[in-house]
Amino acid sequence: MNKVKFLYASSEWRERGNSSEAVTSIPSLLSRAKSIRSACVVGATGFVGQHLVNLLARAGVELTIVTRDVAKAKSSLGKYERRGQTLKYFELPSSKSESADNFKDCFAKKDAVVNLAGAPVAGRRWSETYKEELISSRVGVTQRIVDTIKAIDKEERPKVLVNASAVGYYGVSDNKEFDETSPPGDDFLAYLCRRWESAAQQLDQSFGTRVVILRFGVVIGPGGGVLASMTPIFQMFLGGPVGTGRQWISWIQMTDLISLIISSITREDMYGVYNACSPNPVTMNDFCTSLGNVIARPSWLPVPAFVIRAVFGEGSIIVVDGQKVYPSRTLASGFQFQYPSIYSALKASLNQS
Ligand SMILES: NC(=O)c1ccc[n+]([C@@H]2O[C@H](COP(=O)([O-])OP(=O)(O)OC[C@H]3O[C@@H](n4cnc5c(N)ncnc54)[C@H](OP(=O)(O)O)[C@@H]3O)[C@@H](O)[C@H]2O)c1
Repeated sequence: MNKVKFLYASSEWRERGNSSEAVTSIPSLLSRAKSIRSACVVGATGFVGQHLVNLLARAGVELTIVTRDVAKAKSSLGKYERRGQTLKYFELPSSKSESADNFKDCFAKKDAVVNLAGAPVAGRRWSETYKEELISSRVGVTQRIVDTIKAIDKEERPKVLVNASAVGYYGVSDNKEFDETSPPGDDFLAYLCRRWESAAQQLDQSFGTRVVILRFGVVIGPGGGVLASMTPIFQMFLGGPVGTGRQWISWIQMTDLISLIISSITREDMYGVYNACSPNPVTMNDFCTSLGNVIARPSWLPVPAFVIRAVFGEGSIIVVDGQKVYPSRTLASGFQFQYPSIYSALKASLNQS
């Protein structure tokens, strides 16, 4: 890969690029989403899915939700329904043989399918059985979506499949820099992401469905994710970096992620892999200092890596290791980040909650 230029270096902010240029305000996001007629969201009840469904429902998009538990999904997503608009729900078939004709109806004639499904990666010990669940909930579900789309008549196939992946694709490193051209890493998460992406990429232009794969960084937004776990600890004056503090966090603010998903749906020139992370990755130390600054609390109580390793085993990689990822192809597409700096992203996220 070409040497990637990072916008953030050591503990100084060196912001460049589009922060002072036109940004994606929420009204403009809404107006872009209004050009979408219909969409199916798989994994819609999660942290990202709820924000996406909220926006798409506000934009009047005809929405189909595929979920493992329809009753639970109705209770968590019903609040986004507006007058005269109902969300349609469909239970995710639990096996390939159950992929009945009505599963085809979820995807047929849709402008977009967005696949966000996956069992939680963080905060769990990865037993061999749980690793199987991490794989089947991503690779297995994506494969079922792809097989079903292939079984639909070509002219009725969805126009685009936007599939989640993660920056974990690149493996972990304290000193290497990665962008979309970098090869995959060799740990379990990299293996998982590679298989997840390969399943989605079985669809190509010849099938009539464009595929966009977004490698999510750590998502920062109100109502869940890393902030929901860390902020209460900082509020109690007990916050501090985990591990050495030198590990990289490649992150994206929720509004930017939703904006990138909307671009992936509406822009026919977008296809293939894009890093969904800000051009300013930060170290764990700098992340914690910024979080402390935003909520006026100190970042002073480090949590040693061995404690996290003892609790989560291999799954500790999520917090004690990281990767420095740059969104070269995303920026080259013309995408503009509204929140390129961690301070502005944290501030916006905590004010929104
Ligand atoms: N949040 C982040 O920081 C981040 C970073 C990198 C990558 N990602 C990836 O991006 C996707 C969306 O993230 P998120 O934070 O919104 O995830 P999330 O809150 O954990 O939600 C994921 C959704 O996946 C479905 N799901 C959970 N377990 C499943 C299983 N065993 N089988 C099938 N489906 C299952 C659930 O939907 P139902 O209960 O409705 O079926 C759940 O709401 C995930 O795949 C995640 O791995 C997230």
